[in-house]
Amino acid sequence: MPQPADLYLRLMKSCLLNTIYADYVRPQPQAGVRWKRWVVKALKARNLEVVYGRDRAVLSAEGERNARIDGLAWLPDAHTMIGARRLDNLQACIEDVVERDVPGDLIEAGVWRGGASIFMRAVLKAYGVEDRNIWLADSFQGLPPPNDALFPADAGDLHHSVEELSVSLDEVRHNFGLYELLDDRVQFLPGWFRDTLTQAPIERLAVIRIDADMYESTTQVLEALYPKLAPGGYVIVDDYGGIPACRRAVDDYRAAMGITDDIRTIDWTGIYWRRSSDVLSGESRPAARRAT
Ligand SMILES: C[S@@+](CC[C@H](N)C(=O)[O-])C[C@H]1O[C@@H](n2cnc3c(N)ncnc32)[C@H](O)[C@@H]1O
Repeated sequence: MPQPADLYLRLMKSCLLNTIYADYVRPQPQAGVRWKRWVVKALKARNLEVVYGRDRAVLSAEGERNARIDGLAWLPDAHTMIGARRLDNLQACIEDVVERDVPGDLIEAGVWRGGASIFMRAVLKAYGVEDRNIWLADSFQGLPPPNDALFPADAGDLHHSVEELSVSLDEVRHNFGLYELLDDRVQFLPGWFRDTLTQAPIERLAVIRIDADMYESTTQVLEALYPKLAPGGYVIVDDYGGIPACRRAVDDYRAAMGITDDIRTIDWTGIYWRRSSDVLSGESRPAARRAT
């Protein structure tokens, strides 16, 4: 028989991905199209509602569901874009460190609407773990413009211009509240990674989840936080398969630090590895020499 913790976490995943209401498409009246407005008005008068497709290709209900499971796109009505397989992986990593008593807090760097971080708190809650913090690091204003001089691998990167990637701290706090998971174990680190992460009062980490798209951002998280990851703990990188600059940042850091732990694949983009040793053989390289 399924245990209550498992039932709760399954329901959490359905809510965070909104697979339970996946056939509902939020009405999105399009400004400036007069005849459409007229049709909307006429239908409203008859108690009918127009339901629009999204700004990407309209998917069948099945396609919609699969997009959420695979984490293929950000959706107007889901609290995370990482999909079911990466949520399953996050759960497995947390359960493993809790079971094996790997010491340390959990962090997500790159939280967007907060969904994956909310899930991290939910997993700890489900198992009654109250002595580990969940840290959320984000600018809460989207991604930085590329710094070509220091991080040439990011040249031409356009993530900073994507408005949908900018989600405020208030909205993330609100989303935690919706799941009744906002408490003093949830700690926010608002600001650019380059300013916040090295100063953060974090002693030890058991799970680091990196979801920050760019070479610069991924590198800054690894450099500031990987040395704090306890042996037996996990680092998860969301964009390794999907974004070449992120993959390069990870490969460069691993090579520079002599990390040979096996990279395991989660799905089409996510990867993770378990830290086997406390020893890092490399030194941080000067920023100007990175990824040239
Ligand atoms: C792809 S979204 C994260 C998706 C999220 N993990 C989820 O569950 O859906 C990337 C996030 O990284 C943040 N970010 C990227 N680079 C950053 C940096 N250098 N400093 C601070 N925040 C950054 C953005 O603000 C954005 O919220």
